[in-house]
Amino acid sequence: MATLVVVGSQWGDEGKGKIVDILTEDAGLVARYQGGHNAGHTVVIEESEFVLHLIPSGILHAQKQCLIGNGVVIDPAALIEEVDDIEKRNLDLKGRFYISRNAHLIMPYHLALEKGSENSLGDGKIGTTGRGIGPAYTDKMARMGLRVGDLLHPDLFEQKLRANLQHYNTVIRALYHQEPLRAEPILQAFVRHTERMRPWIADTSLLVHNAMIRGEHILCEGAQGTLLDIDHGTYPFVTSSSATAGGACTGLGFGPGRVDHVLGVVKAYTTRVGSGPFPSEVQGALDEKFRSIGKEFGASTGRPRRCGWFDAVVVRYAARVNGLNSAALTKLDVLDTFDPIPICTGYRHKGTLLSDFPTDLSILEECEPVYEEAPGWTTSTIGLTEFDALPQRAQDYVRRLEDLIQTPFSLISTGPARTQTIRVCDPYR
Ligand code: IMP
Repeated sequence: MATLVVVGSQWGDEGKGKIVDILTEDAGLVARYQGGHNAGHTVVIEESEFVLHLIPSGILHAQKQCLIGNGVVIDPAALIEEVDDIEKRNLDLKGRFYISRNAHLIMPYHLALEKGSENSLGDGKIGTTGRGIGPAYTDKMARMGLRVGDLLHPDLFEQKLRANLQHYNTVIRALYHQEPLRAEPILQAFVRHTERMRPWIADTSLLVHNAMIRGEHILCEGAQGTLLDIDHGTYPFVTSSSATAGGACTGLGFGPGRVDHVLGVVKAYTTRVGSGPFPSEVQGALDEKFRSIGKEFGASTGRPRRCGWFDAVVVRYAARVNGLNSAALTKLDVLDTFDPIPICTGYRHKGTLLSDFPTDLSILEECEPVYEEAPGWTTSTIGLTEFDALPQRAQDYVRRLEDLIQTPFSLISTGPARTQTIRVCDPYR
């Protein structure tokens, strides 16, 4: 048995959904450890497209157990909508889907607070997904949060809700000039949510532990990406959770010694949504070309993603902070018509060459990318399943990326479908 942690190695949207879906085939349990419905995993199965925001995409495999750990923040309405959608497709969740009692809830006032805060930041806004993620984690750290387990104690839930509303309505009114929220409609909605969620609520750390004892492969699914991590990302232009591999331990409740393999998902070029520095970003026609071929629009918000060349400095950094054992390269086929293909190998900052990612945002903002050029292969790689079948120049590009990021690729994706994958080696072994 092995415990595998899958993380995004850039700014999110690396194509984790498909990689997780493939790795789910051999997993006994798939567990999500951070973030909320700000994530969006698109999975294509037999021509149908599924977009999941909260529930691990493993749920699309009929028999798999899936859970949402304590490190995730849950908007009950969003969760229930997602469950409804899955059940409409004749997939039964009974006895195989759980949410942690200790996961925090996203409450209606979190949405109002986030909207107010983003508006007040003007040009300096984070560009969040507007789902209340940041304020929910703020409450968690301030020890003011409402947790899934509180739903099972209605009196206590009401008491905490009223106390929080009293506090936040002052902020909402005075700072953000919005209408205060009333407790009654929120309480009524949460009574309905609780009835629906009750069978899913569990001690998920224990479920993970028991799956380990049974000798199952466990797949821990990260959302967002390393550069959006609250500690290791481009702060403050980050999400509010630990998207890096360490987050799997705290977000699910097991020790680091249990992790057997960390797999980083790496897109063959780079994208980012929201604000913040992005050294290898391209503009104009190239940006449009990436976006149209790579379908680079946010799965959660539909926002166009900013696009750029592969940045080896970023991924080398991700390899370090996550301790990557291997990587999965995605969307290689998107580069089929690009020629040449620049690769960012370092940064220049005021005349000095940097090969390590600067953690000081003000330095990062002033960095110029240093490129080397790989020749394009200008032929289709879509759907190839053998490394040797790739055109020589595509093989050289992949090998060069491995050298630069000091990490071998265990999987290479050549299209959105499960079958369009080169399986170099099995990360569970
Ligand atoms: P939040 O997570 O909604 O607070 O947004 C914070 C930042 O993370 C923004 O720049 C978002 O665009 C970005 N972000 C959040 N979730 C994702 C994701 O799943 N993929 C890519 N970017 C994301």
